[in-house]
Amino acid sequence: MTDFLEGYSIQRWLESCPQGYLQDTDYGHELGENEPALLLEDPLLREQAISMTVQLVAGERCALAASSGLINSAPDEASKRFLATQTLDEARHVEVFSQRLFDLGVKKRELDDVVAQLANPNLVRFAEILLEKVDKRDFVAGVVGQNIVLEGMAFSVFELLHTSMQAANPKFAQTLSGTIADERRHVGFGENRIGSLIRDNPEKRPEVQQMQKDMSYFMLATFADRFRDGAVGEERDRIRAIAPADSDVAEPEYHGVNVAQASPEELENVLTNTVLGEFKTRLGRIGLEYQTPDMP
Ligand SMILES: [Fe+2]
Ligand SMILES: [Fe+2]
Repeated sequence: MTDFLEGYSIQRWLESCPQGYLQDTDYGHELGENEPALLLEDPLLREQAISMTVQLVAGERCALAASSGLINSAPDEASKRFLATQTLDEARHVEVFSQRLFDLGVKKRELDDVVAQLANPNLVRFAEILLEKVDKRDFVAGVVGQNIVLEGMAFSVFELLHTSMQAANPKFAQTLSGTIADERRHVGFGENRIGSLIRDNPEKRPEVQQMQKDMSYFMLATFADRFRDGAVGEERDRIRAIAPADSDVAEPEYHGVNVAQASPEELENVLTNTVLGEFKTRLGRIGLEYQTPDMP
């Protein structure tokens, strides 16, 4: 436990995060950076950006509820303190993505209605499965659901978005890279803390594995809704078109796939395979057996 305690202390968090990669940022990006004018002027792109960002807000609100909810069921002080830092990270993610919605023209008073209206029902179901465990004060299931499944998904989605947006939207890309750095820390905690708890509570395995299978299904259904929507290919082409010609971002590659050229189907496949592959590896490391979800 001592090594674990070291790496996830509040002191480490202060040094690496607020005093590190977030220093001098404004809602996660450089001061004075804006959404590209061409995006704001294009109704399809603006609408798609709002709808996509709503999914990020919905996911991060769930992460905020889960990480704060798990503090009181954590069995040790080090985990409680780490989860307190994670709670602030997740609250920040909710804030920066909500701020992006305002930057895209959503009115502050309309925020909750827009989120309720546009949040994908499959993503909402995904979140509910996790929050049921948190509400039951089930620490082991809660941490696996949050720090392995939800954050494993978030991490891969953010990386794909970052790769796709880097040239066309440096402001959003920078917001994403700070978030990715946070998620990497959260996923690391999940793996480091939960392995011994699974070993000590082997009777929990079937239930936690079932939760992973159920959450994975709703995650894949969310991806399917997104990538099988006909507008996604057109959106990608228009985003490409607003990237400055002199951009020094090399060919945007995500796990061997050129995201500027790939079809929506190829993007869905590479994202699905990446996330499920990560689940398999991480669950294996903590002594759980990955369950193949039903395919939507
Ligand atoms: Fe987050
Ligand atoms: Fe997180």
